[in-house]
Amino acid sequence: MDQFVINGGSPLEGEVTVSGAKNAVLPILAATVLGDGQSVINNVPKLHDVKVMKEVLENLGAKVQDDSEQIMIDTSTVNCCEIPENLMRKMRATVFLMGPLVARFGKVKISQPGGCSIGPRPIDLHLKGLEALGVEFKQRHGALEGTVDQLVGAEIHLDFPSVGATENIMMAATKAEGETLIYNAAKEPEIIDLQNYLNRLGASIRGAGTNVIKVKGVQELQAVEYQVIPDRIEAGTFLVAAAITKGNVIIKDVIPEHIEPVIAKLNEAGIEMKVEHNQIEVIGKEDWKGINIKTLPYPGLPTDMQAQLMTFLSLAEDTSIITENIFENRLSHADELRRMGAKIRIEGNTAIVNGVDKLYGTNVRATDLRAGAALVLAGLAAEGETIIENIYHIDRGYEYLEDKLSNLGADIIRKSDFSSED
Ligand code: EPZ
Repeated sequence: MDQFVINGGSPLEGEVTVSGAKNAVLPILAATVLGDGQSVINNVPKLHDVKVMKEVLENLGAKVQDDSEQIMIDTSTVNCCEIPENLMRKMRATVFLMGPLVARFGKVKISQPGGCSIGPRPIDLHLKGLEALGVEFKQRHGALEGTVDQLVGAEIHLDFPSVGATENIMMAATKAEGETLIYNAAKEPEIIDLQNYLNRLGASIRGAGTNVIKVKGVQELQAVEYQVIPDRIEAGTFLVAAAITKGNVIIKDVIPEHIEPVIAKLNEAGIEMKVEHNQIEVIGKEDWKGINIKTLPYPGLPTDMQAQLMTFLSLAEDTSIITENIFENRLSHADELRRMGAKIRIEGNTAIVNGVDKLYGTNVRATDLRAGAALVLAGLAAEGETIIENIYHIDRGYEYLEDKLSNLGADIIRKSDFSSED
């Protein structure tokens, strides 16, 4: 298992360019199944999760060719609707294929997706939405089979603005007869990106980014070329990396309004930033104030930035209260941060963080993607050496992280260590 070895204490300086958004490219890659012919997707980040999605598409019969940040996918040869268990287990985002497969073939077979370290990750809202469009699901030996003769548009009210459920329903509804209305839809920027891609295919969708999305079903969808938006969570992670190391960094190829809540919170803590239309400069400060944070659906503070901000606030001058409202179990990074000297108390879904003067390098373990990123940030700021195990979690969502950080002056290397247990 690979490790990161970080020697902390150097302020980051220089420029870094954000890669394409993981949480936009995964549903868009799934949606290529809807377009007949070869789609070309640009600004694709080199991530483990993208590699798995490519494997899933090839397993369905698609021809996939990737060339640096571009992927060409010919889905005219897709001939099956089953996602094998081993691929489902590798990545939960394979559930995004349910919508496209029932829209194209009228059937889908997946194994019940498992939970992960941040929560049980049910898909009841996905299933309810697809059932409202006419899909009938049956459980068979741990597999879930959905069939439908003809999808028919419906009014769907989501109990929770689930990102994945909104995306799956949008994709299925593109080929449903009549009109579909999705109420209480998720409003994340990645939903807008998916709407833009689907409309380029020939779909007729309006309202992404608001809580009501209207989809008018169409007969045909043609493959196209499309450029994915920048990754707002990677951008936010680099904002925090610059701030926590008291450095001076320009983060390029950013859409500032996508991370407005993170910018607002760092400003509240006393961090100075120069925000321009496609870049943000962080001017590091010697110290910063504790603040209170509650994660919420977009446009609230994203849950995917909570762990990184917890690391940042563990070095604040005073106390912060962090409440995780999206996932049931997304505070486990506090245990690892405590091993580095952080003073954090967990009460239910809330962390009380008492700022300390220093964190100290030691051996820690990544438990999920963003917890891993939070430990990298802690290592960058800590005194001494930090060794982070299980960094495959980090590779799922950050492209060339150690290279980008080294180019900013960080002392970080990747070690392929086959001795450590998972
Ligand atoms: C997407 O996950 C993102 N993943 C997550 O990013 C992100 O944290 C999450 O949205 C929230 O913004 C991708 O886009 C690939 P949800 P998703 O459905 O779609 C519950 C990262 O670090 N729920 O909005 O799974 C669910 O359990 C990852 O990049 C149901 O109860 O998120 C959770 O508590 C982590 N039933 C809450 O809703 C359902 O059918 C939010 O889930 C679906 C969800």
